[in-house]
Amino acid sequence: MNRAHGVICASGWWARTVERELLPWGLEGVELGDDVLEIGPGFGATTRALAARVPALSVLELEPRYCERLRSELGERVKVVQGDASEMPFGDGRFSAVLAFTMLHHLPSRELQDRLLAEASRVLRPGGVFAGTDSLATGLVFRVLHLGDTLLPVAPEELCERLLAAGLTDARVRRGGRSFRFQASKPPRQAPARAAWEPVPTRRPSRAGS
Ligand SMILES: C[S@@+](CC[C@H](N)C(=O)[O-])C[C@H]1O[C@@H](n2cnc3c(N)ncnc32)[C@H](O)[C@@H]1O
Repeated sequence: MNRAHGVICASGWWARTVERELLPWGLEGVELGDDVLEIGPGFGATTRALAARVPALSVLELEPRYCERLRSELGERVKVVQGDASEMPFGDGRFSAVLAFTMLHHLPSRELQDRLLAEASRVLRPGGVFAGTDSLATGLVFRVLHLGDTLLPVAPEELCERLLAAGLTDARVRRGGRSFRFQASKPPRQAPARAAWEPVPTRRPSRAGS
């Protein structure tokens, strides 16, 4: 983030916007479950609001200095992990929900964005939810805030297809104001395939009358 972007993300105005508008809208109808991962927490506006709502919260942040700041502010309440969301340092099927607020556009290529979507799918439990929001990046101010920084907006009209290609299901995307929100689920665990018929008898049935 450039300096101006950092000042806004760390501001009381952004914290209030997140708490009152962005999170309630982005998480409408989302069952977060008991073990949640947020990717791209930045200065922690979204993280602070989430920490109050879920039993266990981990965050994955690329920038080491933001991680330090989050650790000293949030202490034991949140597990802060430094790393890249396109290559997550977590095992398969761990989280009940993965959340990403205003961060997808920070991935510098479409391929890396798709890798992030696939990683979100991989670390989710069957039935878990991937949800979040991002900017439509149409405003001049938003573009100025990204001068000297990565800005690769995600086209909302393409996102459902990209979420499905990442192995998710029930993908939904909705625009609102200058943002969009998205939700998709990891398919529930498939019951093991069972034969629909009775096992084939090993002996031939004897002929009638013999
Ligand atoms: C605009 S900030 C959003 C912060 C926070 N979610 C909020 O809404 O206040 C985007 C954050 O994503 C982080 N980020 C960018 N690429 C990342 C990646 N590949 N893995 C993890 N975090 C990443 C950036 O370092 C930055 O802190």
